[in-house]
Amino acid sequence: MTGRTGVEERPVAPWNVFVEGDNLDVLAGLPRSAYDLVYLDPPYNTGNDFAYRDDFRGEGGRHAAWVAMMRPRLVSAREVMSPRAALYVSIDDHEVAHLRLLLDEVFGEDAFLAQVVVNLNPKGRQLGSGFATSHEYLLVYARDPAHCALEASSAALVNPSDFPLTEPDGRRLRHLPLRNTNKKFNPATSATLHYPLWGDPSSGRVASRPFPSAVEVLPVFGDGSPAVWRWSAPLVDERADDLLCKVIRGRAGDRVDIVQKDWLHEGRRKKLRTIWLAEEVGSTDSAVAELKALVGHVFESPKPTGLLRRVIETMPDDALVLDFFAGSGTTGHATALTNAADGGTRQCWSVNWAEPTREGSNARLAGYATVADLTRARLRAVAATVGGGFEERSLDELG
Ligand SMILES: C[S@@+](CC[C@H](N)C(=O)[O-])C[C@H]1O[C@@H](n2cnc3c(N)ncnc32)[C@H](O)[C@@H]1O
Repeated sequence: MTGRTGVEERPVAPWNVFVEGDNLDVLAGLPRSAYDLVYLDPPYNTGNDFAYRDDFRGEGGRHAAWVAMMRPRLVSAREVMSPRAALYVSIDDHEVAHLRLLLDEVFGEDAFLAQVVVNLNPKGRQLGSGFATSHEYLLVYARDPAHCALEASSAALVNPSDFPLTEPDGRRLRHLPLRNTNKKFNPATSATLHYPLWGDPSSGRVASRPFPSAVEVLPVFGDGSPAVWRWSAPLVDERADDLLCKVIRGRAGDRVDIVQKDWLHEGRRKKLRTIWLAEEVGSTDSAVAELKALVGHVFESPKPTGLLRRVIETMPDDALVLDFFAGSGTTGHATALTNAADGGTRQCWSVNWAEPTREGSNARLAGYATVADLTRARLRAVAATVGGGFEERSLDELG
């Protein structure tokens, strides 16, 4: 997606900024209404021993303690989000129900955009009894649904093999019926779209009025019952070059019909479904391998950059991104990869506190005393290998 035009210029470099600190303190020092995309991967409250603490306890119980930690951070997140911003939060079954209610409370039910199922563990969790859980979730909310810039589509999903035809000038395309194939739309429900068109199957020409050699064509379903067109008559004339009259094989024999020439053009996107497969966005295993290649196997639960790239690509290419549970820095890595791929000018602010790495963990054995040291190390390695630079800001500087 291309970004804003005619709005104030923002510095484009560096692509990655890191702030060490408790995210609640850091959020207080960040500019209001500035960030266009907030991605969060908070502790899931699994009770496991990761490089970071993932076990919340309190008088009201585990969930209450976790919600009490998250609430002020989500309230502050909303304050630093721009009017066009979107929030994505990764979560699993431990807290998804509580998080959904909390986000409804902080952002409003109207701001809910999706609950995406992400298949990050395709083999399924084999430990313990019960189901082999193979998914987690992404909860998606708008800062302001009326102004949100999120486009729920992806260029990466467009498959050239879905466009099997080629014009003499080399352009790829497919033919789509101009009639609406959804039976919900018919002459009773959409009367104005049931009208005759005129076409010549020899030349392919289509028009909304008769012309020499044209035959009248009415929209019909496969069973011959009356259907409606997807386009109005003025649109047919305006985009006549994108239509083709041809003979097609129907259930009752050959008939003349009209198809739309649907082009595989530059910048084409495909709508995102609410189930994201590991083969499309990566898995926890592939994320560990990505991290290993850059700084070593030093974090047990990183996200794959493919997941973050898909998230990032739903927002404009000059988005200011914020991840204040940065961990190994996947969001910053994915921001740099996306900029490098499409020439975007996104900037990602990553925040993580100086949480001591667990004694005996891979991170500690590799020499990282804190998770923040690990975040820094990855973002430096990203700047060295992908580009875009890296800067560190201290909490004091933020004011
Ligand atoms: C689930 S991990 C994030 C993993 C990350 N998405 C990745 O791909 O590597 C959560 C991170 O949040 C950090 N964290 C937890 N509470 C925090 C707080 N109050 N302020 C800053 N960071 C915090 C932890 O140190 C941990 O690194």
